[in-house]
Amino acid sequence: MVEAKTAWKNIIARALADYARGKGLDAGLVDASSVVAEKPPKKELGDLGFPMFSYAKLLRSSPAQIAQAIAAAVAADPEAAALGSAAAEGPYLNVRLPRPAEAGRILEAARAPAWGKGNRLSGHKVMIEFSSPNTNKPLHLGHLRNNILGESLSRVLRAAGAEVRSINHINDRGVHICKSMLAYMKFGEGRSPADEGLKGDHFVGKYYVLFNKLLEENPKAEEEAQELLRKWEAGDPGTRALWDKMRKWVLDGTAETYSRTGVHFDLYDYESETYELGKDIVAMGLEKGVFYREEDGSVWGNFEDIGLDRKVFLRKDGTSLYITQDLGTAVARHEGWPYDRLVYVVANEQQYHFKILFETLKRLGYDWAGDLHHLSYGMVNLPSGRMKTREGTVVDADDLVDEVASLAKAEIEAKEREDAVGDSAAVAEKIALGAIHYYLLQVAPTKDMLFDPAASLSFNGDTGPYIQYMGARASSILRKHAAGEGNAIKGKADPEKLSGDGDWELLKLVAAFPEAVESAALAMDPSVVAAYLHDLASGFSTWYRENPVLNCPDADLAASRLSLVAAVRNCLETGTGLVGIPFLEAM
Ligand code: ARG
Repeated sequence: MVEAKTAWKNIIARALADYARGKGLDAGLVDASSVVAEKPPKKELGDLGFPMFSYAKLLRSSPAQIAQAIAAAVAADPEAAALGSAAAEGPYLNVRLPRPAEAGRILEAARAPAWGKGNRLSGHKVMIEFSSPNTNKPLHLGHLRNNILGESLSRVLRAAGAEVRSINHINDRGVHICKSMLAYMKFGEGRSPADEGLKGDHFVGKYYVLFNKLLEENPKAEEEAQELLRKWEAGDPGTRALWDKMRKWVLDGTAETYSRTGVHFDLYDYESETYELGKDIVAMGLEKGVFYREEDGSVWGNFEDIGLDRKVFLRKDGTSLYITQDLGTAVARHEGWPYDRLVYVVANEQQYHFKILFETLKRLGYDWAGDLHHLSYGMVNLPSGRMKTREGTVVDADDLVDEVASLAKAEIEAKEREDAVGDSAAVAEKIALGAIHYYLLQVAPTKDMLFDPAASLSFNGDTGPYIQYMGARASSILRKHAAGEGNAIKGKADPEKLSGDGDWELLKLVAAFPEAVESAALAMDPSVVAAYLHDLASGFSTWYRENPVLNCPDADLAASRLSLVAAVRNCLETGTGLVGIPFLEAM
């Protein structure tokens, strides 16, 4: 299909150039890359639609006149005849592809395990930072959105040929970390997560919340946390030992959540290891005049000329800030692996932070500062209200997955599908992940959104489980055939048989898979793949209702449709893999 599109673009560009020459105009102005192929609004119009609007000025004719002229030229072009037929429809030139030949090519290509993968971005090195929690609390609902954006973006970029390194940046230093330590010192009595039967991250998060109680009892607690940070930066052994212990508890806990949700990182980097470099960079920038020192000793940058604020880079006591470490981190990363692009997947609350960070790196003279990109995403709310951390009413990521999984399990039981699915707890967990990941991805990243657990699970809506269900249906047809059921075993697959409208529409959806992956990669937006999967799943569902496969009386048609089912299944399996929706053989 991609080949057919390219061939048609060339044919049309050639005809446009001839048309220009015929009018005594400069033919060099038309090239194939300017020819755009769209999907016609109605399938009756054909398979590809080429708008002629953009040539009107150049060719001094109306788009409709151009479409007419090109249709006539194409009809007389022997090369075009082998590739289908074209007709003018208003300002569009619509093309019908030769179905039997195209069907054969699509089915052949879509069988390959690599179907969907491409090389558009090969040679391109992309570093993607995502998740990046603080080591004072567990992951929350917002992280689930962050994680699936980062994870699927990594997979989509890899599928488009890019070399990708995914990084989890751990903010394991700072006053907020010291607060959980202080509360633990006051209330913890030496207990461990195991003593309280809690995951390590939940355990430490509990103490972070308890810091508020501490503050009520002792108004000096804020100052004590600052003091603890100074001791930490000075390398005080007792402080470091407690810090190390609590940090490990959190990291062990979050590692469980990552593995449960299928999130993977190539590398971890730690604020505790880059903040010193950050301080050195600030010192260097101070000499260069990028920063200035206030009377109290603190170091600042002034960004008023670009419509931003003044921003502190080192406190008066010399301790480092969130922005300080990010300077060091960015420099260390580029030295370690010179990339073409570094993407930070971070909530839109930090837009200001990243503007300042990128601008500062530019002022410091790093020529790669222009390759940094903040992939900013909006809040995730639950129907019950906004998530709040400090009040302790945060929606915990593990709890949310548990909740959706138990809803899914109840649904399996209500439908009496326990025997059909096998291990219903494991399948329920996979359905929950499919539901959550699809629901979070399908909304454009920049928008705030409401996460509705029940709606995310609906088996016949715009949901992950719906896509999983269609994958299971396709798998079940193939299983039945393998077990000797149906008419297809008696027939021979022949793509020519798939020229009917229904089969052809589904074939075109199969053919569109690699383009969906490529556009998602170029736009850095995995929701393009999610939307494609939904279209394919619903196209498959309609087709399957109307077109018998195993029971088709014509054995050759049955065998041909079976190979179409296998192609659909291949797209669904690879595609769901790209967006973190577990593929299910049965559900
Ligand atoms: N840990 C930070 C937070 O939870 C996000 C870190 C984003 N990445 C970065 N390089 N600053 O808010």
